[in-house]
Amino acid sequence: MAGGADWQPHARRRGGHVARPAQPLSRCSRRTCAAGLQADRDGRTGGRRRHLVPPHGGAIPHPRRRGRMVPVGASRPDALRCGGIRPQPDRRGPLSLARPAGKNAIGHDPRGPSRRTGAADGGETLGLGTAMDTRPVRDSFVSRGSVGLTPRQRQILRLLCEGKANKEIARELDIGVGTVKQHLVGLFKRLNVRNRSMAVSRGLSLLAAPDARAEQTDLDTALTDTDWLQQRTLARRPCVVLSLALPDAAPAELRTALQRALAARAFDARALLIPRDQGLGDLLFGVRRSSENDLLAAAALLSNLCQDARAAAPTGPDQLRVAIDAGMAVVSKDRRGAWTGEAVATPAVARTRHLLQQTADGELSLGAGARDLLRAFGAAPAATARKPLPLCDLPRLFLLPSRSRASLVGRDHEWARLNAALTPGAAGRVIRLEGERGMGKSSLCQAALSHCQSLGGRGLYLRTLPDAGGAPFRDAVSGAPVGLEQAIDALSAPIAGQPDLLVIDDLHLLPRPTATRVLAQASPAAARGRVVLLSGVRSAPAGAAHRADDADRAEPIRLRRLPDAAIRRLIDDLAAAADTPPDPEIRRHICRQAAGVPFFAVELARASGDELPLPLLAVIAARLDGFELDWRMLQTLAETATSRHHLAGLSEDLGQPLAQVRDAVSAAVRAGILTGGPGQDGDEPVAFRHPLIRRAVATLGI
Ligand SMILES: Nc1ncnc2c1ncn2[C@@H]1O[C@H](COP(=O)(O)OP(=O)(O)OP(=O)(O)O)[C@@H](O)[C@H]1O
Ligand SMILES: [Mg+2]
Repeated sequence: MAGGADWQPHARRRGGHVARPAQPLSRCSRRTCAAGLQADRDGRTGGRRRHLVPPHGGAIPHPRRRGRMVPVGASRPDALRCGGIRPQPDRRGPLSLARPAGKNAIGHDPRGPSRRTGAADGGETLGLGTAMDTRPVRDSFVSRGSVGLTPRQRQILRLLCEGKANKEIARELDIGVGTVKQHLVGLFKRLNVRNRSMAVSRGLSLLAAPDARAEQTDLDTALTDTDWLQQRTLARRPCVVLSLALPDAAPAELRTALQRALAARAFDARALLIPRDQGLGDLLFGVRRSSENDLLAAAALLSNLCQDARAAAPTGPDQLRVAIDAGMAVVSKDRRGAWTGEAVATPAVARTRHLLQQTADGELSLGAGARDLLRAFGAAPAATARKPLPLCDLPRLFLLPSRSRASLVGRDHEWARLNAALTPGAAGRVIRLEGERGMGKSSLCQAALSHCQSLGGRGLYLRTLPDAGGAPFRDAVSGAPVGLEQAIDALSAPIAGQPDLLVIDDLHLLPRPTATRVLAQASPAAARGRVVLLSGVRSAPAGAAHRADDADRAEPIRLRRLPDAAIRRLIDDLAAAADTPPDPEIRRHICRQAAGVPFFAVELARASGDELPLPLLAVIAARLDGFELDWRMLQTLAETATSRHHLAGLSEDLGQPLAQVRDAVSAAVRAGILTGGPGQDGDEPVAFRHPLIRRAVATLGI
């Protein structure tokens, strides 16, 4: 996206950018500002929150933190948060993923306008760089911020977008074909595109702009129109990027087949597709809705795409070049926290494309962010190595490292029950491991499998994949895809030796009918002497449904939060493994923050500095995305210096009626994000339920 110093988002044209004025303007948040109050009285701009002022002595009051002054133009984004002038979220050369429009455009949602992804309401196009273009797309913003097409260019662009040939355009406008060509040259230059199809792509979104005059709108007018800003807020989201390319010499049929497959699979996986003019394109997972399984979803999609490539040409997969990385994306959300599909920018895309440049045909490169996620969510160490993998080794991404029970702390009681079930000669059972994210369900399943194998028994570990179609499981040892029928066969197969263990992990990811079919076989398998170990997130609605189905048959083992002593031991174990002396202060801090969740403790202990590690952000963002929340209210709360906040002050800071704030807070309390809020005896001060959630919200906001 454009560099922060000279460019700023256009206030009305979402995703658009305009030149930053020489004297930085900011929306005044001073409650006593005379100009703002006058504007209020005049009813001109809708009040002081909309009134534009030059900086008060080079600094302005922070819009939400009372008493705090922030320098205008400071690099911290929150310095300018009181108004429509939003700084660039990231200046490391992110790419614009803002919306294109039209049927084939990125983010186009064939399910119709109600679920539109922002493509239809105009504004900006994607920065359609070249295949490997990793430079910031500032140039295209230059032309975008002031596209200023002549009426004739506009007419021609419209006809181009209707798919008309030069001759037809000439006939329609009653001009010569040569003149059309001349206009096209000017038009391409204006749009900063190189060819007709790029012009069409840009044109579709420009022409879809709700107010075509917006291009000419003068800066001040644009900046005072903050309706859309009032409705939206920007957020940073953890995302996974899958970047794919084919060599120029790849057969046309292969390219076409893959392009089609990519579009269909991206749609199924709810990923955002950014096609490239020559290559295949980039897929973004998690910007519409965060999930800690985005990486698995990306890997599953890639595995399906390799099959498509093989079907199109036997050597198809050998020609594909793939890079996967994870990082942060910038998206805009509406007040309730729903993704609006606007103004998406992500340095992760630039990084992944860069990685792709260093990848050979038939190989897959993993960036540091992706490796981090893989490790945190239990991939085999081999898959987290820095070297590119041959694409045919893709299944290795799904492997789980074997794990001994000794590496788990504080789970003696749970382990004793599993151990008893796996004693040779014991009766078969169905056991259900349940607990919040990161409580160690998969780790216990892995330890059970290792134990079973060490006893000479037979074990199968099926890992559920967040995959829209195809096989719903992977064999966690071989990485091979396992279809539903195969899983059912495995459950009902005769017992070959003792103990006989079948693990199905992350059951909550299965669609309900699939889960029902699997569960129907669990009890008969146990009656035959098999130990069926099911695991799933307790709070997931799907998990709740599964529980109801097998409630009378499965024995639950609930993984509760670990006591502080166990978390301290865990931190010390990690310090010992990393050969660093344990620091009591850090240990205390991590213990406080982790609040008994081992995953939090492991990630915080691994993190360097103050930044929250990506896997943690991914988990928390996924949790927040699961509810309808007023994101802006949460961000305001997360930024306040006090840990508890009174609703009246919050309402004043947000400029919203108290009743509205009460509703928003109540929703967040019901979701388990906040505590306090409206009660029977009046409003209680609100606070985040967990300090990590507060930190994550502050990090995710802009
Ligand atoms: N008791 C424990 N001792 C040591 N490390 C643990 C323990 N429990 C979990 N961990 C670590 O926490 C991380 C998350 O664990 P795991 O993946 O098993 O959790 P999970 O409950 O399966 O999470 P999810 O709900 O995301 O599937 C892993 O890095 C694991 O090593
Ligand atoms: Mg797990």
